Amino acid sequence: MFMDHHRSSRLDRLPPYLFAEFEKKRTALEKEGHDIINLGIGDPDTDPPKLLLDAMVSVLHDPLVHQYSPSQGTEEFRSGVADFFQRRYGVALENREICLAVGSKELIAHAPMALTEPGDIVLIPEPGYPPYRSGAVFALAEPWVMKLRADRGFLPDLDAIPEEVARKARILYLNYPNNPTGGVATLDFYREAVSFARKYDITVISDEAYAELYYEEPPHSFLEVEGAKEVGVSVHSMTKTFSMAGWRIAWVCGNADVVETLRSFKANCDSGQFMGFQKATTAILKDGAEEMKRIRDMYRARRDAFVDGLQSTGWNIPRPNAGLYIWFPVPVEGMSSMDFAGKILEEASVIVLPGSGFGEAAEGFARAALTIPEGRIREAAERISKINW
Ligand SMILES: Cc1ncc(COP(=O)(O)O)c(C=O)c1O
Repeated sequence: MFMDHHRSSRLDRLPPYLFAEFEKKRTALEKEGHDIINLGIGDPDTDPPKLLLDAMVSVLHDPLVHQYSPSQGTEEFRSGVADFFQRRYGVALENREICLAVGSKELIAHAPMALTEPGDIVLIPEPGYPPYRSGAVFALAEPWVMKLRADRGFLPDLDAIPEEVARKARILYLNYPNNPTGGVATLDFYREAVSFARKYDITVISDEAYAELYYEEPPHSFLEVEGAKEVGVSVHSMTKTFSMAGWRIAWVCGNADVVETLRSFKANCDSGQFMGFQKATTAILKDGAEEMKRIRDMYRARRDAFVDGLQSTGWNIPRPNAGLYIWFPVPVEGMSSMDFAGKILEEASVIVLPGSGFGEAAEGFARAALTIPEGRIREAAERISKINW
């Protein structure tokens, strides 16, 4: 006998997956034996630093690391984060202002359940990382979209948020350096966000997952501006910084009450992260400056390979100062981003993602990820530049 298991209507409130058609095309081309170059997914492809792996191996025989971790992370891990934050951003943090996360995605997706009531508004950027929306939906809150436009440097216009929306909002998600646009926030913008959050009693969650992947000036943290710690937190991840996507290790830091609320929620959902990972992460945060530089140099060279490689086409391809992506305007007059990406896939066997898959505000753009070797990126740009538009 079969049971009719219920599927929560929360899942049906998520937007449809817009890359399905695109993926079908790709699978068909792969089956035909085409050599596909995938600039679609932002999954760091290089080995994590040796220093990290050595630290990991050396702690494995410590019997204590195999037990449950405190949900907020060990004192040693949080002290390591505090030292790093002080060195990198000049921001002093106490351990109680820091909480471990099992990768930043879960923290971002869980936060609305800990910080909102059903019907509250959550302000999310578009284009934006999908868990901002799904987290709000799962908490029965209402996502309200802030469009990110090129002419504003991809910073949301907080003054354009209607008064009645701002009054019902509980969370403001920010993400700089931004995925997918590569936008970087100024300190003035963060100051604006602090006064907006103060005025309407909103918790700011500043997702800074790409903060260490910069190619010129180091980006700021939201927590650097005066008053930020009163109104919010910033979220950091080891994933992109040290090519550690599979390790699932990140942290949230800032306002002690928000951190404690998130911790107490998370204590009911997860049991922290393997303490061996925390120890190794603490070691690389302390001594990993050279490794960070090596990783940045690698991505900078890949960025330049893509941008320079397409220069002969006369297209306007921006050279972002940070992040893992090139977000560029569709250069062919009147062509949709889906048709543009489709033609590149069919005629050059290169995957770039159409902006329309990132929401309405992103039509007219395409995204290329820099997570494959420089030689392949060069080849992708060369193939694209030969297409007859
Ligand atoms: C903007 C942004 N934030 C957070 C994450 C999540 O990273 P992780 O869960 O690996 O820490 C990603 C991953 O792609 C991202 O693009």
